[in-house]
Parts: sequence; structure tokens; C-alpha cells
Amino acid sequence: MAYPKRYTVTAALPYANGPIHLGHVAGAYLPADIYVRYLRQKKATVVFVSGTDEHGVPVVIRAQQEGVTPRQVVDKYHTLIKEALQGLGISFDIFARTSSPTHYETAADFFKVLHQKGVFEVYETDQYYDPVCKQFLSDRYIKGSCPSCKHPGAYGDQCEACGRTLSPEELIDPISAISGVAPILKSTKHWYLPLNRYEDWLKQWILEDHKDFKTNVYGQCKGWLDQGLQPRAVTRDLAWGIPVPLPEATGKVLYVWFDAPIGYISATKEWAKAQQIDWEPFWQDPDTKLVHFLGKDNIVFHCIIFPVMLKAHGSFILPQQVPANEFLNLEGQKLSTSRNHAVWLHDYLETFPGKADVLRYVLCTIAPENKDSDFTWQDFQDKNNRELVANLGNLVHRTLSLVHRYFDGLVPPSIAPNGADQTLLTDLMDAFTAVGDAIAQFKFKEALQLVMGYAALGNKYLTDRRPWHLVKSNPEEAGIVLHVTLQLIATVTLLIKPFLPTTGDKMAHMLGLQETGWGGDLDVTKLLQPGDRLLPPIVLFEKIEDDIIAAQRAKLQPNATEPVV
Ligand code: 2FM
Ligand code: ZN
Repeated sequence: MAYPKRYTVTAALPYANGPIHLGHVAGAYLPADIYVRYLRQKKATVVFVSGTDEHGVPVVIRAQQEGVTPRQVVDKYHTLIKEALQGLGISFDIFARTSSPTHYETAADFFKVLHQKGVFEVYETDQYYDPVCKQFLSDRYIKGSCPSCKHPGAYGDQCEACGRTLSPEELIDPISAISGVAPILKSTKHWYLPLNRYEDWLKQWILEDHKDFKTNVYGQCKGWLDQGLQPRAVTRDLAWGIPVPLPEATGKVLYVWFDAPIGYISATKEWAKAQQIDWEPFWQDPDTKLVHFLGKDNIVFHCIIFPVMLKAHGSFILPQQVPANEFLNLEGQKLSTSRNHAVWLHDYLETFPGKADVLRYVLCTIAPENKDSDFTWQDFQDKNNRELVANLGNLVHRTLSLVHRYFDGLVPPSIAPNGADQTLLTDLMDAFTAVGDAIAQFKFKEALQLVMGYAALGNKYLTDRRPWHLVKSNPEEAGIVLHVTLQLIATVTLLIKPFLPTTGDKMAHMLGLQETGWGGDLDVTKLLQPGDRLLPPIVLFEKIEDDIIAAQRAKLQPNATEPVV
């Protein structure tokens, strides 16, 4: 395929019913941001959108728990989530909301087009209804005893004691979680997306045409398709959501998973309007590459349901890639919001001011790209102290210190480097291609490892060539060594930017580096010129002591063993 003209990159819309934790970051936001920053460095046209997912039962339940309205819940968490992601340097072009007027209109129009095209099937079924509160009950609102383990507090969708997936009619002695009375069955009408009718198309589109999907994504899709698809209701009886735009559907709203992915389109519209450009090319031009970043629990929605919606609509491009990640665990246990076994992003940023890049680094090195992985505070400390401080920070600090001590802070001349000096420069030549290829294939862990490998190479070179000794006997040669090391640091500066943007900016500032691009015509031997003035070195990373880590671990202890509620 020809090189894409433009990119539309999305990161899953987090539910605005609570703060986000490191699992969300490692799953979707960080890889998406690395990818987008890399594309921007390559000067590609790209829009990077996300926002809060503000409808659905989870928001309503949270509002009840907090004794406030759903609107108050989403306002609070929209701001909290937006600021936390900003604090981590996630560089969205827009972080929108699914409660915005543009989104209401876009989602309702989308539904209307599908309705007019006769895509939906309408079925009337019996569903649980609370006769006291006079409302239909979603699965989470129905409680009862688990048919398997007899746990008395099982939900209509799952028993959290034994883990079994349930449907509400399987519960023994069901009661409404709102009023506590036994629900009655009542007939209700809903609009269904007939996924089964798209099965053949999906089999071709995913299993044949998208063999390039990551193995974990492809495997999950194949699993769904092998099982066979059923029509799926895209409307709900709920008071919170986007009203179904049909006169005969009063009191019904769009299913949250119908409106949420359309949120990517509405976010793009809002962004384009603010930029005074057209949004359509980003969603309708086949030369645009649409890429969705998300966690594995969202794969079915982005690879099956949303593509069927887009295909049925007919005016939109389909995703070319859905590089979903697996899950991140915490200290060997599943991250759990209900048990408070989590590291919340906003908490981290408050506790470790100025250390957003440290978290980005550690999460990228353990990204659950192909299988679940584990975050531990011990590993966080080790990677900060042994890799960021001892490798990258040390390389920059000692090189700049030497240049200030022996060459007045000016890039020394490089007269005909040869031997080890030339070898190092040659090694750097394909750095942008090697790292860029890994990023383009969503192998962020491998890409960062390569970058840190170049830093390690620089340290080894410096240690082997000992310019602090050479300077006494052969200052010219010492100058060559430092010149070469500085070119390596300038290269690493550009390479590290997508991963550690603040660090990259600080390094560029110290070096006075003008270049901001990636690869192409860049000559890694000439990123800096002899005579360029360098700033004195600043400390890029500080050692993190044991007591800080112990305090973080202790924070997790009290709740980690609490039973699941
Ligand atoms: O799983 C979640 O957190 C959902 N709110 C993700 C929605 S992604 C999308 F389609 F908008
Ligand atoms: Zn059970």
C-alpha cells in the first residue's frame, strides 16, 4: 500500500465514572501517544482523538453511590481524567466528551442513517423491571444467588465470587439492586444490529484481509467469529444517555457502546471546527489510515461491532489497525477498581512531581503488548535507578560536563574520525530506520530498548576511549571522541522524544539542537556543528530511594486482600 497521506489515531474513551489507573495507561494511552509523537516527528498529517465516555450504567451506578447526579459524576471525572492524561504528556489534539452537543447530533444522525437503510431489526422481549422504581433493570442492577456457587450477592451479568458469567434469568431469587424488591418480567422493544448478517463480510475483512492484525487481536476476533454472531441490541431503557431519535422510542436511549465509538468521529469534528478545516478527510478519505488503540476487553467493539456500524453506514473508512494490548497486573494481582488494588494516574503524578517520563519509561518497558504483564514498585525503582539514572542520565551528564571542563562548552571539532569513532557513527546511521520500523509495527517495547541500547553504546564508547585521559596527551583526539558522543546524544534525543517527551526536550535544550524530525535526510554525523554552544548539564533523573518505594507498596496493602464486592 502507498504511504498513507494522513492518520486518524484514536485512544479508547475512558468511562467518566472514576479515575484512570496504570492499566489504562499501559493498555492504550501511552502506546497511542508514542505512535502519534513519532508520526508527528515524521511530519505526517495526524489527528489524535479521545475523550470521556459519559453514558451507560456504570455512570448511573457511580452517581447513586456518591449521592449525586450522573451529570455531576461525568463533570468531575472528565476533568480529573483529562488533567491526569495531560500531566503524563498524552498529546491529544482533542479530549472531547460524549455529552457534547456535537456528539449527540452525530450519534443520533448515525442511528438515523442505519434506521433509514433498514439495517436494524426490532424485537420485543421480556426483561426484568422494577415495579417500585418503575424502570427496566440492566444486568448489573439485578442481584441474586449464584446458580453455581450459591453466593448470595451475584450480579445479573457475573458472579464475582466464582467468576461465572451469568444472564439475569439464571439468578436464584433475583431482586432489584435499587429498591430491593423482586423484579417482574415486562415486555420491551429494542433495536438490534444484526451482526450475524455481516459474518461473511467480517470473516473476509478480518480473517483474510487483516492477517496483519496483532496475534492477540486476530486470535480474539477469530474466536468471536468461530462462535457465530448474534443480533445485538443497540438501544436501552435508561434515563441517562442519548435519546433514540425515533418517535416510537420515547424513554429509550442509545446503548453506550453504540454511541461511544461514534465519539471518535464527533471529537474529530469538534477539533476540525476549531482548526477551521474539514473533518471529512480524516474519516472518509481512503488515503487516511485509521488506527484504534485500546485494551483487550474492547477488541470486540472495535474489530466487530464498530466496523459493522461503519460498513452499514457506508460513508466511512474502516480501521486499518487495532493494536490492542493485553492487561497490566499490579504486584502479581489483577488490577481492581472495586478492591482499590490500583495505582491511580492522578495519584502518581501528585506523589512523583516531575516524574511523568519515569512512569512512561517503566510502563513502556513492561507494556502488555502480547501477554499480560506485571507492574511492581521494585521494578519501577530498579528501572529508574539502573537504566534512566545510570545509563541515559549519566551519559548526558558526563559528556556535557567534560565538554564544559575541557572545551569551554563548545562542540569540539571532529577531524577525520576513524577506527572506533567511525564505527560508532556508522552504527548510528540506521538508528531512525530501526527504531521507526519497530514503532510502526507497534513494537514499542522493542523500539525503546533499541534507543536505550544506543545510549549504552555511548557510555561504553566513552569509557573505552577515556577522553578525560586523552585530553592530556592528545586533545584533538579527545575532541573527536566528545564530538562523536555528542552526535550520538543528539540522535538519542530525537529517538527518545516519542517515549520521553519532557526528557527529549530538556536534552534538546541543553544541546541547542535545532532538528526536530525523524530519519529522512537527517545526517546523524552532523546534527550538531563544531563550535555550537552547549548549556551546562542539568540532572535528568534522580535516584529513587527505598523508603519512597516502601511507602507506595504499603499504600496497596490494606485493601489488596479485601474480598471482592
Ligand atoms: O472500556 C471502556 O472504558 C470504554 N469506555 C471504552 C470505550 S472506547 C470507545 F469506543 F469509545
Ligand atoms: Zn458464583
